[in-house]
Amino acid sequence: MQRSVLVLAAGKGTRMKSRLPKVLQVLGDRPLLAHVLDTARSIGASARVVIVGHEAEQVRQRFAHEQDLVWVEQTPQLGTGHAVQCALPVLPQTGQTLILYGDVPLTQSDSLLALLAAATDGLALMTLEMADPSGYGRIIRAQGRITRIVEQKDANAEERAVREVNTGIMAVDNALLHALLPQLRNDNAQGEYYLTDLIALAVARGVAIHSVSAGHDWEVQGVNDKLQLAQLERTWQQEQARRLLLAGLTLRDPARFDLRGSLSHGLDCEIDVDVVIEGQVVLGDGVRIGAGCVLRDAWIGSGAQLRPYTLIDGARLGAEVQVGPFSRLRPGAELADRCHVGNFVEIKNSQLGLGSKANHLSYIGDAIIGTAANIGAGTITCNYDGVNKHITRIGDGAFIGSNTALVAPVRVGDQATTGAGSVITRDVADGHLAVARARQQTIDNWRRPQAGESEK
Ligand code: UD1
Ligand code: CA
Repeated sequence: MQRSVLVLAAGKGTRMKSRLPKVLQVLGDRPLLAHVLDTARSIGASARVVIVGHEAEQVRQRFAHEQDLVWVEQTPQLGTGHAVQCALPVLPQTGQTLILYGDVPLTQSDSLLALLAAATDGLALMTLEMADPSGYGRIIRAQGRITRIVEQKDANAEERAVREVNTGIMAVDNALLHALLPQLRNDNAQGEYYLTDLIALAVARGVAIHSVSAGHDWEVQGVNDKLQLAQLERTWQQEQARRLLLAGLTLRDPARFDLRGSLSHGLDCEIDVDVVIEGQVVLGDGVRIGAGCVLRDAWIGSGAQLRPYTLIDGARLGAEVQVGPFSRLRPGAELADRCHVGNFVEIKNSQLGLGSKANHLSYIGDAIIGTAANIGAGTITCNYDGVNKHITRIGDGAFIGSNTALVAPVRVGDQATTGAGSVITRDVADGHLAVARARQQTIDNWRRPQAGESEK
């Protein structure tokens, strides 16, 4: 059966107190609306329709790369029923429509598939039992069967006591939607066209309304302000940590771990506290990540060890590499197996061959380094002349003395050595030593100035 997904996202979101439209506020690694649209794709939606109103242009821009989205503008916003009415012209006559909300980001596909399955008679609602139902539409039943939904503002005391609420999420047969939506009226407390009035209209036609509850309460949690956003972020992080733990990843403290993207891992990986993972990160077996590390779009080989406070962005590390503490690997850093990179070393767009080391205080940019090279403390590749970037090549087994400045383009040969403090501007041949620094002078008969002595 064809499934259209309709996402309501026209509301204003005043309580966010932000220039950014509510559905563009970020949870995890992406906007609220992106979560909803990704889930819609994952359940095999044949069409994804988004109803926008407030800041419509900004919202549309953000998703310009998703070319299959259908955008429907709702101005002015006359209620949830009116929102769906605006989309009727783009909804097929047959099949089902799933109605979702742009500010309810975490509904899981299993729950939505169950809802769609329950709607084969015509209409199914996702409902929730709440200890405090205030603010929500109440599900009214007679002899156990759903007869209608009454909004909080239109409800009498007895109806308000009902704890089963409407989450707003529903699945409807398209023929039913086309037949009933034009019949909605706005003679209610808010003067709006309520989508929820669809229920009573369907019941009047003899349609049996089914209800489904979400797998977890947080799946139907909406976001109206920054407090709710932060709370849902924590819920989401806990859920991700739970899944990772059950998949065998060791998290020293699941409450101090943030995943803003995707993480895949082998066996026996261990992550210490306050680690942030962004983008796509892949860990081999037995990877250990120390406290306070931030990894984004990284590939880390088996047995690698990241010591605390290491930043890795767009880098690839081979097996048994050791990095940190306080190292920074930037895009294009590629470390072959068993490399060691130590504290306050920054590496960008460079390759380090098998077993090479840069243990202290260096900048290595646009460099190609062979195997088993040793980069001394304080080595800097001077790769930028103010206009262009140039390459530094360092051969196998080369030994770069401490505080060497390598003025690129330049090549230090295999097994070559540079003296500490050298400024290397010309190539060093294989096996040679280059020393490029002022010779030390020793001044005979020099006396320190003495206190009380006049200056001249
Ligand atoms: C709605 C439901 C209520 C349910 C609650 C769950 C109705 C009449 N009531 O109430 O039963 O318990 O959600 O949170 O449906 N929107 C538009 N266009 C509009 C109005 C709203 O796109 O004209 C969007 C909003 O951006 C929002 C969503 O629809 O994402 C819900 O709207 P809101 O006004 O918050 O509905 P509630 O009054 O909370
Ligand atoms: Ca709401």
